[in-house]
Amino acid sequence: MKILVTGGAGFIGSNFVFYMMEKHPDYDIVVLDKLTYAGNLETLESVMKNPHFKFVKADIADRDAVFDLFEQEKFDVVVNFAAESHVDRSIEDPGLFLTTNILGTQVLMDACRKYGIGRYHQVSTDEVYGDLPLDRTDLFFTEETPIHTSSPYSASKASADLLVQAYHRTFGLPVTISRCSNNYGPYHFPEKLIPLIISRALADESLPVYGTGENVRDWLYVEDHCAAINRILEDGREGEVYNIGGHNERTNLQVVKTILKQLGKPESLITFVTDRAGHDLRYAIDPAKMMNELGWQPTTTFDEGIRRTVEWYLDNESWWKSIISGDYQNYYERMYAER
Ligand code: NAD
Ligand code: DAU
Repeated sequence: MKILVTGGAGFIGSNFVFYMMEKHPDYDIVVLDKLTYAGNLETLESVMKNPHFKFVKADIADRDAVFDLFEQEKFDVVVNFAAESHVDRSIEDPGLFLTTNILGTQVLMDACRKYGIGRYHQVSTDEVYGDLPLDRTDLFFTEETPIHTSSPYSASKASADLLVQAYHRTFGLPVTISRCSNNYGPYHFPEKLIPLIISRALADESLPVYGTGENVRDWLYVEDHCAAINRILEDGREGEVYNIGGHNERTNLQVVKTILKQLGKPESLITFVTDRAGHDLRYAIDPAKMMNELGWQPTTTFDEGIRRTVEWYLDNESWWKSIISGDYQNYYERMYAER
């Protein structure tokens, strides 16, 4: 079995590589990654020398590079994690999101059509469903919830999903799509809420909470997401969408306070800043299809996952400090200076 993992130098893609190499040590894994600001080759250091692993630096939207790779490698499965993934950046500059998230997906599927594939899996997001009201805790996203996007990021992910479904229906491409809720865990880039709060709290810096902090996200430990994708590759039905989530809803303020408590830092670090434009109120996944059809269950509770995550950031300061000392500083200034 030879698997192409695009975006494998990013947060979830790298965790997926580690998960699959442990679960299926005989599989060959090729990572294709453009190494954008969010891709970090250091993350993959522990597998670089494994004879079953190979890294290729390329852009999924570069048709020639992608087609050359498919011609050389003959993949059985493609799992597409590669994306511009940060909502705030998509509000600042949507263009690249359309190129990578939509056109890149098209290029990958065109290569699958030309060279043949057992399965093309699209890693999508619950953000394609828009948001749910804060006062209707009885409502959840199912696979039948209409697509209703809020940000350029989610619109680009939804567009890609529609294209994947079109390639299935029109060309018979054997596809599956997963839509997961917010992930957290090791190697999470420190521009996203949880690692941003951990790294800034450790430095006793102010902690920017958008709006009132009442927005709700449904958190899933990254390894549980990886296990779910593995189950979809094994037994998921072609053409189907699978929602992934573990019923771990928390307000942003609850998340920040939990982290502060674990670090022994004061809540006075919390600073309420101008809200994100178009900010989705609440995400909440109904994972019944994953559980009933594929027998998947999340194994890590939020309390346990956040404890492990904070510990990981304490033990791996050099990983995130080298990120923060680089380009990320300029980005932070641009994003927060006026807030
Ligand atoms: P990330 O930003 O941490 O990593 C993205 C990776 O893709 C990086 O390594 C980057 O270098 C690479 N990449 C970007 N553009 C590329 C291109 N044009 N060609 C090749 N590689 C490129 O993102 P993440 O949080 O790991 O998310 C991975 C996927 O999962 C994305 O598709 C995202 O939409 C989806 N997702 C994320 C979450 C979450 O909570 N983070 C939840 C659900 C779904
Ligand atoms: O739901 C899945 C999505 O989760 C993925 O598709 C995205 O790729 C991923 O980035 C994530 O999107 P969010 O916008 O939910 O994640 P983020 O970490 O940016 O923000 C989480 C919440 O915290 C959100 O309500 C905005 C808020 N927030 C975020 C930042 C960075 C703050 O209050 N302050 C901050 O500084």
